[in-house]
Order: sequence, then C-alpha cells, then structure tokens
Amino acid sequence: MRRLVLKELVDNALDAGGDSMIGQKGETYFIVDTGPGIDGGPQDIARMFSINRPMVSSKLWRLPKRGALGNGLRVVAGAVLSSGGRLVVTTRNTRHVLTPREDGGTDVMPEQVDFPVGTMIEIEFGSDMPADPLAMRWGEDAIRMASGETYIGKPSPFWYDADHFFELLQAGKDRPVRELVAQLDGCTGAKAGQISEAFKGMSCQALDRDQAVALLGAARAHAKPVSARRLGSVGKSSFLPEWYASESGSVQIGVRNPKAEIPFVIEAWCDFHGSRDDDVSISS
Ligand SMILES: Nc1ncnc2c1ncn2[C@@H]1O[C@H](COP(=O)(O)OP(=O)(O)OP(=O)(O)O)[C@@H](O)[C@H]1O
Ligand SMILES: [Mg+2]
Repeated sequence: MRRLVLKELVDNALDAGGDSMIGQKGETYFIVDTGPGIDGGPQDIARMFSINRPMVSSKLWRLPKRGALGNGLRVVAGAVLSSGGRLVVTTRNTRHVLTPREDGGTDVMPEQVDFPVGTMIEIEFGSDMPADPLAMRWGEDAIRMASGETYIGKPSPFWYDADHFFELLQAGKDRPVRELVAQLDGCTGAKAGQISEAFKGMSCQALDRDQAVALLGAARAHAKPVSARRLGSVGKSSFLPEWYASESGSVQIGVRNPKAEIPFVIEAWCDFHGSRDDDVSISS
C-alpha cells in the first residue's frame, strides 16, 4: 500500500514536468518536483487532496501522460486518514498542512514559506499501515523509467472521436473556437484560422454535435496523424534487463465516427535465468 501511494505521488510529479525525486527522512517520505506547482488557494488544494472529491477526469486534453482518472490524490488522502498519518503539501510559497476527515473532506492549515518553484509533498503513514522497507521502490523505478524520450507535442485531432471532441468543446465554454483549435497538434498559427473559418466568431460551447464533427474533420485535414515513433520510448537502459523488444501500432476507440486513432508503443525488458536451451514464448 505504501508503494502504491508513493507511486501515485511520483506519477503526478513526473506529469508536472521538470525534475522529480523521492526521498525519506525518518518516518517521512517526500516527493519533490520542479514543475509549475499546484493551482488554486489553500481550500482548492484541500479539496483536491480529499476523499470525496468528485472523480473528474482532468484529461479532456488527451496526452500520453500517467494521470488519467483523477483518482490518485483521493487514494493518497484515504491512506493518510485510514492509517492515522500526516500530509503536507508545499507549493507556490505556501505550506499546507492537510488533515483528511472521516466525512471525506480535508482540513487545511496554510502558512507562507519561501518555496517558489514546483511542489513538495511530505507524507507519513500511521502505524496502522504495515511497514515496508521497499516503500519507495515503485516510485524510484518510475523516475528511472521516465528517463527515455517523451512526447512533447500537443494533443492530436486524430486522438479524439466525435463524442469526446464535442465534450472538449463544451468544456471550452465561451472561448473562441479558433483558440481551442490552436491547441491541437498541427493546427497552430494561420492553420487554426483556416480550420475554424466556418465557425468564425463562435464560442466553443455554441457548436452542436454535427458542427463539432465538421470542425474535427477540418482539423484532421490540416494535421498529420502522430506516428508511434513520435510518442517516444524508454528504450534499452543499463538499469533495465538486457533483453529488449518493442512493438508499435494504433487502436481505434469511440462509438460515433470519426473514431479516435490512438497510437501506442509497447516495450518489454526481460531477464534470462536458467538454461539457454529453455524456450520462452510470450503472446498477447
Ligand atoms: N506535483 C504536481 N504538480 C502539479 N499539479 C499536480 C501535482 N500533483 C497533482 N497535480 C494536479 O492534481 C490533479 C489530480 O491528481 P490525481 O493524481 O488525483 O489525478 P490524475 O493524476 O489526473 O489521474 P490519476 O487518477 O490517474 O492519478 C492532476 O491532474 C494535476 O492537475
Ligand atoms: Mg495522478
């Protein structure tokens, strides 16, 4: 359980960009990153680290990142509450001592400190959670695995199906259509104007489902699908087993046309123990 909770925090740190590290001082584990810090005031941060936070996907913008569900910090708050632990979040020059409550909310005690860059999470598990000498193992592995190449582009219009793109537009509220289009891969600058020409002056939420499909089609016509190669890979590495293989492809998802075409890369590392005469085959 400790491994899982610390891994959730490391995943968030890695998604934030910048450098990430995990360490331990006495009973306290700390996860530090040099990303942009966490948005919002003390109450917003308390809400984010609370068990009863609605599980809202923060991933309307589809990107190959670790976070997906918006559940990680609820797990962290639950682990602190159920074990009788301690949680402190320091970001944007404020240290927040957080106390998750039985009713699902979280109390916060903010204090001004000098911490302008990134985020530091300090977490201590209570004695009700079994000790684990390798508690940081999964988090440390995740940081090492993050050393390969990663995708640095924007979300591709090919990664959205008709329904999901409509949802993205609805979430865009009163922003001009062109502004949202410019955030897609291959659709920046003058192209954004051409793609959104038919919806000039309209806000994102004003488009109906058919208009959303037309806009998605126009965006795709101007952009190229993202190749699996552009997604990046971890590759061979001295800290991973020697035998390595990778495969790539793409998968279609969604109900209504156009469907999303999601590229993927699968990598496998393998250690060989035993006799060289053994046959091993892996199929999926
Ligand atoms: N270290 C951090 N720096 C910046 N933002 C963060 C950091 N940690 C969390 N956040 C913000 O809090 C949000 C919620 O985190 P949470 O782990 O609960 O969900 P998630 O990462 O979106 O999805 P998942 O359930 O897969 O972990 C993140 O999407 C991110 O916006
Ligand atoms: Mg997360």
